[in-house]
Amino acid sequence: MKVLSVASECAPLIKTGGLADVAGALPAALAPHGCTIKTLLPGYPKVMDQIAETEVVATLPDLFGGNGRILAATAAGLDLLILDAPHLFMRDGSPYLGPDGRDWPDNPERFAALSWAAMLIARDGVEDGWKPDIVHGHDWQAGLAPYYLRRHSPGTKSVLSIHNIAFQGLAPPWRLNSMRIDASDFHPNSAEYYGQISALKTGLLNADKLTTVSPTYARELLTEEFGMGLQGVLRDRRDDLVGILNGIDLDAWNPETDPEIRTYRTPKGKAPNKIALQEEFGLPDGDGPLCIVVSRLTEQKGLDLLIDALPALTENGGRLALLGSGQPELESAWQSCAARFANVSVKLGYDEALSHRMMAGADAILIPSRFEPCGLTQLYGLRYGTIPVVALTGGLADTVINASDAGVKAGVATGLTISPLTADCLHDGLLRLCSLFSDSKVWTKMRRNAMRHSVGWESSGAAYAALYKDLADST
Ligand code: ADP
Ligand code: GLC
Repeated sequence: MKVLSVASECAPLIKTGGLADVAGALPAALAPHGCTIKTLLPGYPKVMDQIAETEVVATLPDLFGGNGRILAATAAGLDLLILDAPHLFMRDGSPYLGPDGRDWPDNPERFAALSWAAMLIARDGVEDGWKPDIVHGHDWQAGLAPYYLRRHSPGTKSVLSIHNIAFQGLAPPWRLNSMRIDASDFHPNSAEYYGQISALKTGLLNADKLTTVSPTYARELLTEEFGMGLQGVLRDRRDDLVGILNGIDLDAWNPETDPEIRTYRTPKGKAPNKIALQEEFGLPDGDGPLCIVVSRLTEQKGLDLLIDALPALTENGGRLALLGSGQPELESAWQSCAARFANVSVKLGYDEALSHRMMAGADAILIPSRFEPCGLTQLYGLRYGTIPVVALTGGLADTVINASDAGVKAGVATGLTISPLTADCLHDGLLRLCSLFSDSKVWTKMRRNAMRHSVGWESSGAAYAALYKDLADST
């Protein structure tokens, strides 16, 4: 089975969030199941710099305002097809934002071009004769691929994965032409969404199968609370929508071999990492848990609520180290928090290596997300014996076993789940965390359970492979 995965970011080459981790992990996850995945990725400067040898395998004249080429390359064990189109992608900084922190004005066309290139690869193949059986796109940036395929390469089957429905790729209708969407498709059953073009909705209506990244989020998406306006579209397609849980890269996130940390096999081995982490963040000693947050700072992540709940931690000997970046108002709120509480330390920015040291050194990781399609940091936490304290939503609900009285008694708890997500409940959750932490027998058991929890790709790789196979076999 040959699959073209179409992604706007892919770890370790270019990453703004979990989408990159997943796009980077899928090829290895699917290889044992007989699927060969090539990943189509835009040729951002950061990507081009990391590619040593390339071969031109297709030329794409007239690609949304300039010439494009497809370059075949391998990097970090990934088989890549790079969309080299300097007029669209040769820009420094984030894949999506200009230096002013706003979306690039031509984002609709930039990612339409990525989707168009996917269609051409599927329709015409590339020079060595490789042609995918299935095109698997991720999020709105690949949303037009299923649409273009339906119109120009109807034999190719498509899958679209929703990693985060908050981003829908909206554009005004006067851009139909420049996005190569036929004006006759500008209606509510295809590209139109409340008077705008929606790349994501177009994809949801044109893909053969839809997936999202956890079973709970697949159900939540059908509701008004979580569907962000697309719940009706998804309800109509519920028979084609499946939730497949993300896994993590077990080699990159392995406390036994992680080069960033003092490696360990059992929770006891975390101790020297904890001392180092406390020092790195300049935090005082304390009897309570050393907690961490590693996150984008956006509304989604609920970290504003955590600020209100913090006294439960700081008044009980707890400490908090936060690493994150994002919305300026959240960044400054957290900076003031660090100035106010001696037990809170904040580093603004993005630092992959530090995030590993934090996972190794911390007692608990806090993830109070308002919604969370899957979430990866709770999985890293589990693997590193760092107890996740999470909102009971999406993939967080599917991966953490709550330390309720029953959960503790049964000896199965791996973390704490907070529901409903309010500052008060979060406050109570943090009190409970402190009390569990002070009971060394219970705490040790929870950490052991966490480290044994399976967080790899095995079963999800098999689920994707089965989905591809069903699709390929269908007429
Ligand atoms: P999302 O994709 O919504 O941001 P996920 O939990 O799925 O949430 O994935 C986030 C990924 O980005 C994880 O790999 C996490 O470790 C990483 N990450 C987020 N913020 C930072 C940061 N400031 N520094 C380092 N890594 C970060
Ligand atoms: C999105 C979601 C996150 C998920 C990631 C990878 O960024 O916010 O929950 O883990 O995609 O699927």
